[in-house]
Amino acid sequence: MQYTLRTLPLAQRVLFSCFLVLIGLGYLAAILFLYFVDVEPHSGTGEGMIQGIADKYHGVPTRLEIALRGPMADRASIADKKKVFKWIKSGAPEDTFDTEVKPVLQANCVRCHSPNSGVKRANGEPVPSFMTYQDIVDAELIDIDTGLTIAQLARVSHIHLFGISLLVFVTGFIISMSETPMWFRVVLIAAPYAAMFSDIGAWWLAKWDALFAWFVVIGGAVMGMALAVQILLALWEMWLARSKHA
Ligand code: HEC
Repeated sequence: MQYTLRTLPLAQRVLFSCFLVLIGLGYLAAILFLYFVDVEPHSGTGEGMIQGIADKYHGVPTRLEIALRGPMADRASIADKKKVFKWIKSGAPEDTFDTEVKPVLQANCVRCHSPNSGVKRANGEPVPSFMTYQDIVDAELIDIDTGLTIAQLARVSHIHLFGISLLVFVTGFIISMSETPMWFRVVLIAAPYAAMFSDIGAWWLAKWDALFAWFVVIGGAVMGMALAVQILLALWEMWLARSKHA
């Protein structure tokens, strides 16, 4: 006869149960870890989880870029702004500063952004000076952050793909012996794999467009729910459903 979770011998039910309980605890620890790494550090800045994830994978635009797209947007022509954005995108190198960027700043900005302009921030401090490359570096206006590198993404991706696919192979194998309808088991077994594909795929896509941070969260949520249902359902069938029918 074919075993189901309900009719498995005691030894297998103990083995499966120990595994499922520790996997469940491992998953909770992983969520806690993510909270401390990705959510908590941002809470002070008023950033939500989605923004935190977007920053991590996509990076954060430089303050020079933010200013030129925001409050300083109409201080320079579109062509001049394009020159500056292109320079930032190429890594804001010092050697092309004098030819590409300095003329733009000289023509449009230094009448306010120089030490003796007397122009102040709203909080009374002088506005950052744009006289030299070093001034701009010192004012932290071109700190470039493009998120995780491809090498870092490849590292975390392969660890997660290998690790999680094996883990949900075991939980899926256990749930394949459930007595729930076949279609339900098939969905429950495939769901974590689909979720992992969405989650890890979205890390890479978020590097390109920050909007994909949403799919990281959706993938993570589906993974968590599928794993929780697999674990609780299996435990229930092995121990509680058994006593009713045995
Ligand atoms: C008429 C004066 C004036 C001109 C011209 C001007 N700015 Fe500003 N800029 C300011 C003031 C005032 C602030 C400070 C705003 C604040 O923090 O209260 C500022 C702030 C900034 C900041 C700092 C933002 C931050 O993150 O702290 C940047 C970067 C900046 N400007 C870029 C530029 C660029 C680039 C140009 C030229 C294309 C330019 N500004 C032209 C007055 C000017």
